[in-house]
Amino acid sequence: MDIRKITMFGGTALLVVGLLLAPSWQASGKLRQGHEMYKTHCASCHGDDGKGVKGVKAATLNNEGFLKIASDEYLTASIRNGRPAGAMPAFDKKTIPDEQAKYIANYIRSWRPDITPLPLTNDPVVGDAAKGEAQYKLLCAACHGQNAEGGIGTALNDAGFHASASDQFIMKSITMGRPGTAMIAYPDSPDINNIVAYLRTKAAAPAEAKEDAKATEAKK
Ligand code: HEC
Ligand code: HEC
Repeated sequence: MDIRKITMFGGTALLVVGLLLAPSWQASGKLRQGHEMYKTHCASCHGDDGKGVKGVKAATLNNEGFLKIASDEYLTASIRNGRPAGAMPAFDKKTIPDEQAKYIANYIRSWRPDITPLPLTNDPVVGDAAKGEAQYKLLCAACHGQNAEGGIGTALNDAGFHASASDQFIMKSITMGRPGTAMIAYPDSPDINNIVAYLRTKAAAPAEAKEDAKATEAKK
C-alpha cells in the first residue's frame, strides 16, 4: 500500500469511528445525568450500585430477575407512584421531569447491558382469589405478611406497587423470583394465577397501606 492509500484509509476509518461515537457521546451524557439524578434521589435507599444499603429495606434494583421484567415504563411509573407503604416517595414531574426519569431508567439498565427486558403484555391474569388467598397464606405470608403488608419481603398491598405493576409483571416476579434474594422462583402453575388475583384484592388505598405498615412496625 502506498502512503496516499494509507492516509485515505486512515481518514475514512476516523470518519467512521467519529460517526459511530457521536450518538454514544450523546448517550453517555444522558447516562451521566441519569447517574447524577439517581445519586441524588435514589441511592440513599437503593445503593449507588442498586444492590441496596445495609440496614435499609428497599428492593434490589440491580437484580437479574428484576431487570429481566422491568420495562422502562415500569421504572418510570415506579418513580411517579413511589411506594407509600415502603417509604419510597412519589416523585412529581417538578422534582424529576419525564426526560430525567427516562435517563434514570437508562442508568439503572446500564448496570446489566446484557439484559433486555422481556416484552410483557398488559393481558390480565385470570384466577380465583379465594383459592389464591389459601396459597398465599401457605407460601408467601411468612415473608410478605398475613395481609400482604410486607415483612422480609416487600409490601404487596402497597398502592404504588399496584399502580405500577401489571398482572404479568407480578406473575413473572413470582415465577422468575429475584435471584440472590430471599425471593425464590415459584414454578408457573394455576396456583400462581390465583395468587395474583388474590394480591389484586389487596391493593390498599395509600392511607390504609400506611396504617398496615405502621401496625407491622409496631409488632416488630
Ligand atoms: C426513602 C427510600 C427510597 C428512595 C429515596 C427511593 N426508593 Fe425505590 N423503593 C424503596 C422501597 C422501600 C421499595 C420497595 C418497597 C418495599 O420494600 O416494601 C422501593 C421500590 C422500588 C422499585 C420497585 C422494585 C421492584 O422490585 O419492583 C423501583 C423500580 C424503585 N424503587 C426505584 C426507585 C428510584 C428510581 C428511585 C429514585 C428516583 C427510588 N426508588 C427512590 C425505597 C426508596
Ligand atoms: C423467604 C421469603 C419470601 C417468600 C417465601 C416469598 N417472597 Fe416474595 N419477595 C421476597 C423478598 C425479600 C423480595 C424482594 C427482593 C428484592 O430485594 O428485590 C420479594 C419480592 C417479591 C415480589 C416483587 C415485589 C415488588 O416490589 O416488585 C413479588 C410480586 C413477590 N415477592 C411475591 C411473592 C409471592 C406471591 C410469594 C409466594 C408464592 C412470595 N413472594 C414468597 C421474599 C419472599
